[in-house]
Amino acid sequence: MPQPVIATVGASPIGRTDLPGRDLFSVALAEAFEGLPDPVDLVGAVYVGNQSETYEHQIMQGTLMAEWAGVGMVPAERVEGCAAAGALALRHAVKDVRNGEHDGVLACGVEKMTAGGTGGATDALSAAFDRAIEQRSGVTAPSQYALLASRYLHETEATEADLAEIAVKNHTNAAANPRAQFSEAIDAETVLDSPTVAPPLKLYDCAPVGDGAAAVLVTTAEIAADLGVPAVSVDGVGAAANNVAVAERDMTHIEGAAAAAETAYAEAGLAPEDIDIAEVHDAFTVCEALLSEAVGFAPEGLGYQSHLSPEARDDGWTDVELSTSGGLKARGHPIGATGLLQAIEAYEQLTGAAGGRALDGAEHALLLNEGGVADAVTVVHILSAGAEPDSGVATGTKEVTR
Ligand code: COA
Repeated sequence: MPQPVIATVGASPIGRTDLPGRDLFSVALAEAFEGLPDPVDLVGAVYVGNQSETYEHQIMQGTLMAEWAGVGMVPAERVEGCAAAGALALRHAVKDVRNGEHDGVLACGVEKMTAGGTGGATDALSAAFDRAIEQRSGVTAPSQYALLASRYLHETEATEADLAEIAVKNHTNAAANPRAQFSEAIDAETVLDSPTVAPPLKLYDCAPVGDGAAAVLVTTAEIAADLGVPAVSVDGVGAAANNVAVAERDMTHIEGAAAAAETAYAEAGLAPEDIDIAEVHDAFTVCEALLSEAVGFAPEGLGYQSHLSPEARDDGWTDVELSTSGGLKARGHPIGATGLLQAIEAYEQLTGAAGGRALDGAEHALLLNEGGVADAVTVVHILSAGAEPDSGVATGTKEVTR
């Protein structure tokens, strides 16, 4: 079975932009293929993570992005799973390479989320809630996650100040990430004094609305070595769908995420203690706490300590560093691109291209991308440094400056 690797990555700027989705994609693609052969020589299939056609009134995103990449007459499709669309696209690409169907697949994601302002995004995102039970009540994504946060604060010793510290950590990390939507570090008072969005969540507990695109080439270790690019191997993939409606679920035990992680760990032959860095879907600060517990980094009820240094956390925590990119909270969350942006952070960390935010010696990364509220669908990837073809290890780095 071929060993799938990520061999090159690229992203557009993230945030409010003047570019339509296809141009955001072109920027991401140009960065990914700089100095490499044309995509038409490397890409046998295209998957595009894309949350909603309402932003640009555009479907056929698979065909469109293949056309825009100059890759004709190959299978190309849009992948939908709300905010997990990007990781679902990556998962399809990994499977195609693993099963030998293609030896090069483009996994990409794009969202022109600011097209309709916050109102348009709020409406588009609400389509991920159960129409019969939830949508008719007018709940929004922040208000759904506020239910989870309220319950978490009720059941654990965590406080709003603890959640604020997660935002502080992620904004601090984003300040060292040239790809990030927000580039300024903040303090806890900024979070706690920011306007309430849905109690207990405040502005700085929430991921922002933003545009963005990301592109990742999944190929074999041999092809990556031939190209002379640094590569990271994709060693484990897990995915799990839970119920759509939050009413049907345990709000503080994210069992779909736990199931997806279990599959990915088993495939990779790794345990939570082996993971050095992780990007977990921190759409709202409480998510980082809940997901740290779900994937086995933290004991139940202690995930809110994710902002502390490993030495300062309670017993039972692993040494993992979370959201080195700044996470969804501060790197940004252009929905369909987010799962690929997580992969880009892992690629840069594991190939020595993470600049000032590099974690020395990082070998294994876990990516967790979710769609719908909490774990309506979860995808977990585990990536490892030093993808080794028979002929040797691809080396080198590619730094981003923006
Ligand atoms: N964190 C920090 N600052 C934010 C922010 C966020 N999440 N969202 C907006 N801002 C800042 C903007 O940069 C802007 O600053 P400026 O005035 O210095 O330019 C200011 O706040 C106002 O921005 P605006 O876009 O008008 O905010 P808003 O009140 O319309 O929207 C939220 C704020 C939190 C409601 C919106 O970002 C949101 O809905 N986020 C959640 C998105 C979501 O649900 N994603 C899917 C999760 S699965």
